[in-house]
Amino acid sequence: MEASHIPRHCPQAEYQLTSVHRDPDKIRFNWGDGHQSGFHTIWLRDNCSCEMCGDHSGGHRFFELNMLPDNLDYQVSHTDQMVEIRWTADDHISRFNTAWLRSHCQSDQERNKRRSNPQLWDASFTQSLPRVSYPDAQQKESELLKIFDAVRSYGIVLLEDVPKTAQATEEIAGLLSFIRETHYGRVFEIISTPEPAVIANAPVPLRPHTDENFREPPPGIMIFHSLRASEDNGGESVMTDGFKLAADYKAMYPQDYQLLSEVPIPHRRFLDNVGLRAEAPMIQHDYFGQVCEFRLNERTMGPIDLPEKLISPVYSALKKMFALSYDSKYHMHYLLKGGEALVFDNARVLHARTGFNGNRHVRLTHVGSDEFYSRWRQLRYKYNGDINLA
Ligand SMILES: [Fe+2]
Repeated sequence: MEASHIPRHCPQAEYQLTSVHRDPDKIRFNWGDGHQSGFHTIWLRDNCSCEMCGDHSGGHRFFELNMLPDNLDYQVSHTDQMVEIRWTADDHISRFNTAWLRSHCQSDQERNKRRSNPQLWDASFTQSLPRVSYPDAQQKESELLKIFDAVRSYGIVLLEDVPKTAQATEEIAGLLSFIRETHYGRVFEIISTPEPAVIANAPVPLRPHTDENFREPPPGIMIFHSLRASEDNGGESVMTDGFKLAADYKAMYPQDYQLLSEVPIPHRRFLDNVGLRAEAPMIQHDYFGQVCEFRLNERTMGPIDLPEKLISPVYSALKKMFALSYDSKYHMHYLLKGGEALVFDNARVLHARTGFNGNRHVRLTHVGSDEFYSRWRQLRYKYNGDINLA
């Protein structure tokens, strides 16, 4: 059986197999666009998804590596769209769709296509902020995909023409994924009040931060749905690209960068019946080695709990990072109008706001990153044929 999660028919030269070469422990495939992929025999045998071996994608897997014979001698034959390997030791046959193989090519060139490609930005980004019409996204999946692609590339997108109703907040979340409920409930109201219980409800400026690092995982994709802007034009949203901060910080302070990528920084919230705590490095990397998560919040940071010798260097590194994050050259200002919503990735984009003196009303909710990016991969598969996005 061929691999199960097969791309739709792809006539492009890059998926056309032109020739196959045998190495002792590897098979090299030459493609119509001139590229060559090499796959180890152990990898090919492990990825057989015939009825006997079962399917990795769906979790219905019967083949176990401990069953693997030591002898992986093989015979291989192919058409331009299919490869058949007969394993000599047990006469087992594996078949692979060529587009599936190319989509899993392990060359640097092909792996680079699969990883995320964040477009970094700074204060000047206001004019280029991606915008999507909410009614269009509701009606057409191709428009909906633009929301996901923008968050994937820039970490943020502005939705326009959203109804100015409380009901619409949960509808936006439902369009993107599932609301993640917390002790705050499903939606958090940010309205100026005389004696606020939390600082978010006071009409004071807030420093750039990522939210709720005392959870594991923290809130994923945040939705700020504006019902009413402040009459005094205050209460601007101030957004900062944490990946840009990390890149600049790495160039300026490489040793401090290494430290902040390794030491866990605790965040806590102990209030009433809430006892949340989580620790993670401020900067985290994915399996490609690129930054995938940035957590910064001076207000919720707990007492640092590290070996004595690390206390001074960590404070020194943190001080420089907070100073950088508070530099206005990174701060993109946007005044959310009633009927607009900002959707952004809390694992990348820091938010803040300027002070205000009016009746501002923003409703905040969030959806899990896993479900959000699951939906993105499904849409990318449906509209672009992508089957192997990191
Ligand atoms: Fe916040």
